Amino acid sequence: MSAAPDTAEQHILVSREGAVQTIRFNRPNKKNAITRAMYAALAGALADGEADDAVRCHVILGQPGAFTSGNDLADFLAFATTGEMGTEVLDLLRLLPKLEKPVVSGVDGLAIGIGTTLHLHCDVTFATPRSVFKTPFVDLALVAEAGSSMLVPAIMGHQRAFALLAMCEDFSGQDAADAGLIWKVVAEDKLESAVMEAAKALAAKPPKALALTKRLMKGDTKALEARIAEEAELFAAQLKSDEARQAFIAFMARKK
Ligand code: COA
Repeated sequence: MSAAPDTAEQHILVSREGAVQTIRFNRPNKKNAITRAMYAALAGALADGEADDAVRCHVILGQPGAFTSGNDLADFLAFATTGEMGTEVLDLLRLLPKLEKPVVSGVDGLAIGIGTTLHLHCDVTFATPRSVFKTPFVDLALVAEAGSSMLVPAIMGHQRAFALLAMCEDFSGQDAADAGLIWKVVAEDKLESAVMEAAKALAAKPPKALALTKRLMKGDTKALEARIAEEAELFAAQLKSDEARQAFIAFMARKK
């Protein structure tokens, strides 16, 4: 992978093809770890797409080998140390259940933390066989986020959800499809064409009927929004715990 640029605009690329808006994580030298500025850019692009009649479908992609390695652990450590968190993550998490337009995502490789839970708020996700969905929250002394403590058991049942959220097991692309977390597994060289084909097909459908159908399927999101808030409170408290600080320091120091 080539050296990555250093600003949020370059770490989150936004492009438009017809009525499809694509948001791409682009911080390959950090495996697309997501900083606060990147959360803000991602939420901003999604909100812009929702507000723009010319956009009929969102697409979210990463890089070959890394969708994202999740929240930037240096940001977590900074919060654990200074208590300075910002609202960027929570702003995105609050927005996700409110998206009315369809969201298509494509995963190749690492899909860690929010790299897994983000797809709970997508409508169609493709992943390659070598993808690794993993939520190491408990191993980092944190708790499930993005509504995953409610959505994951509902999708795959308690035991598989426990393996993902509490045992922090890896789920391959096929495991994720078998568990109902994603729609389809596709070969690496077909990933982006499959994503774009689905997105363009959705963008060509009658937008109001599609949005109403999505809303009916999602139902009342109040309980989900309340769960996201409850998780966020516990997450923030755990971030400040000694056990979490030790986990972040261990990650930072692992190569030294
Ligand atoms: N936050 C900050 N930096 C991260 C990161 C993260 N979540 N994930 C990877 N990076 C950085 C590494 O520090 C490294 O930077 P460096 O080259 O400056 O040292 C670079 O990205 C490459 O990562 P590396 O660990 O060398 O690659 P790998 O292929 O050996 O391992 C992972 C990849 C994703 C398995 C490993 O980096 C990892 O476990 N990351 C943390 C994942 C995580 O816990 N995320 C939070 C979820 S809530």
